[in-house]
Amino acid sequence: MADTEQSSAQRTEAATLRTPIVAVLGHVDHGKTTLLDTIRGSAVSEAEAGAITQHIGATAVPLETVAEIAGTLVDPADFDLPGLLFIDTPGHHSFATLRARGGALADIAILVVDVNDGFQPQTIEALEILERTGTPFVIAANKIDTVPGWRSDAGAAIQPGYEAQSPRTRKQTDERVYELIGRLSDEGFSADLYWRVQNFTRNVGVVPLSAVTSEGVPDLLAVLMGLSQRYMRAEMEIDTTGAGAGTILEIKDERGFGATVDAVLYDGRIATDDAIVVGGIDGPVVTSVRALLRPRPNAEIRVEKRFDRVEVVEAAAGVKIAGPELDAAVAGAPVRVVGDREVGEVIELVEAELAELAVTTQEHGVVVKADTLGSLEAMMAALEEAGVAAVRAEVGAIAPRDVTVASTGKTEQEQVIVGFNVPVLPSAAELLETTDVRLFRSDVIYTLIEEYTAYTQEITASQQATVLDKIVRPCRFRILDDHVFRQSNPAVVGVEVLAGTLTNNRAVVRFDAASPERVGTLSGIQHQGEDVESVRAGAEVSVAIDGPTVGRQIDEGDELWVELPEAHAKVLELELADDIPGDELEALLQYVQRQRKREPFWAR
Ligand code: GTP
Ligand code: MG
Repeated sequence: MADTEQSSAQRTEAATLRTPIVAVLGHVDHGKTTLLDTIRGSAVSEAEAGAITQHIGATAVPLETVAEIAGTLVDPADFDLPGLLFIDTPGHHSFATLRARGGALADIAILVVDVNDGFQPQTIEALEILERTGTPFVIAANKIDTVPGWRSDAGAAIQPGYEAQSPRTRKQTDERVYELIGRLSDEGFSADLYWRVQNFTRNVGVVPLSAVTSEGVPDLLAVLMGLSQRYMRAEMEIDTTGAGAGTILEIKDERGFGATVDAVLYDGRIATDDAIVVGGIDGPVVTSVRALLRPRPNAEIRVEKRFDRVEVVEAAAGVKIAGPELDAAVAGAPVRVVGDREVGEVIELVEAELAELAVTTQEHGVVVKADTLGSLEAMMAALEEAGVAAVRAEVGAIAPRDVTVASTGKTEQEQVIVGFNVPVLPSAAELLETTDVRLFRSDVIYTLIEEYTAYTQEITASQQATVLDKIVRPCRFRILDDHVFRQSNPAVVGVEVLAGTLTNNRAVVRFDAASPERVGTLSGIQHQGEDVESVRAGAEVSVAIDGPTVGRQIDEGDELWVELPEAHAKVLELELADDIPGDELEALLQYVQRQRKREPFWAR
């Protein structure tokens, strides 16, 4: 008890503002890495002190350096936040992993969009995740230098340059930028060029820029600093002497260290020998920190010397943690320093966070695999929205067990594995060959859902096509006056198809009496002199009917029906009503109605 009191007292004393965490997201090749390189590069060239620090999976740019790059746009005196910590996301999928205590790990995001390429699947996906996690973001409308006729002013603020382009170039630039703004609006975001935005909590700012010439980068940094200072400052207050809390980005084997965890620490501190609890596939894992590693600044890439050991790391920072049993950790899960708490208490905390991440599965459905807990969660949310149930949802490569589970699916639609950004183990690939299980794999959630939905629609359509093929199709037709070509053996008469589909070899009935009376069987249909197997409503054809004699069982002007077996009528009405033409449905309903006058439960 005394311990807790003491540490909360310490906490108030040690309250510090941490660096906001900024995630850079966007579609492949839209320029995320180039943008970060440019920020890093400018930071190195602008600030002699080499103020930036490379972290594992992150880059810290201190306020002074931000101010130097941003020029007049950022006055360091206006800010008390220490700078910005950029997280490189080498693919949008890692962004789904960037979470902390049920929310987003990133405090802000930059969504990079190539102005020429516009919105692409991963752009939309990133937007959906940003919306779901409520993460504020700015749009970097990148590659502005590629607009035909664009006159660059390297490293400069964008607004004057944007407005000073020739009328023609200006028009082309506006077209591209407003296309993006329009797409954002389609997705439910109100956006505008950032210098027109008054309230950044309500509107998304668009910063036109070039990651290559770095014009517009000052503006981007100014918007990010402004957003964080204004709307996030309160959340940046942490105790850098408190027990560290972070999120695992990746598990990697490093020579000499075994399995290591790349994590972003967003609260407190972590030190060598600290007891930690990490989220594992089978629940929390208690272990300790053997070493904390940072990339060596400007190190020549000698594999064994890629890292510097550090004793302590304070939030916010990216760090590589080495320690026993870290191979059991899972990307997207929490890492917590035990500190002066009971281990059990921290285990419970981690368990609670893992439970929040846990996904609900059903008794039936597809098998879902994803690379991280965060992406699994995003995948499951998207599947649920599409009305797809999952019987199994796990993090990891596609394994034989997944194939076995999928193969027990009751329907073709369920005999499916959906893999997000995961490899297939060779043993699973072999097993797949021997089953009917279908595998869908992609690194875009949206693509997976689309492919799966298309597949199920295809199955339904082909199932209905085969059923329709075998089923007797309803038809009402009438013998035309003056079109008797032969009295009997078989009777040959001209008929008009009134509704439905007339098919050869079907039994023919009439409904004079209380019950349908079978009058014979179709043995030929001729349409415009050609033998045909079936004709649709509206056609006039001559038909041969085995059985009746014209003038006795049938006559000119008579209305006849194709005889519908009860089971077929039932399938048609209950399952295929949407798939048959309207006139055929009408013929079916009339037929059923006649039958039900006599037998109310016919075909029910
Ligand atoms: P992934 O990591 O594969 O998702 O791509 P990325 O978003 O990191 O893109 P990257 O930075 O690798 O850029 C892709 C290509 O676009 C490279 O050839 C860059 O040189 C080019 N590029 C990026 N930004 C700009 C820009 O502002 N102007 C021009 N002209 N080219 C750019
Ligand atoms: Mg990249």
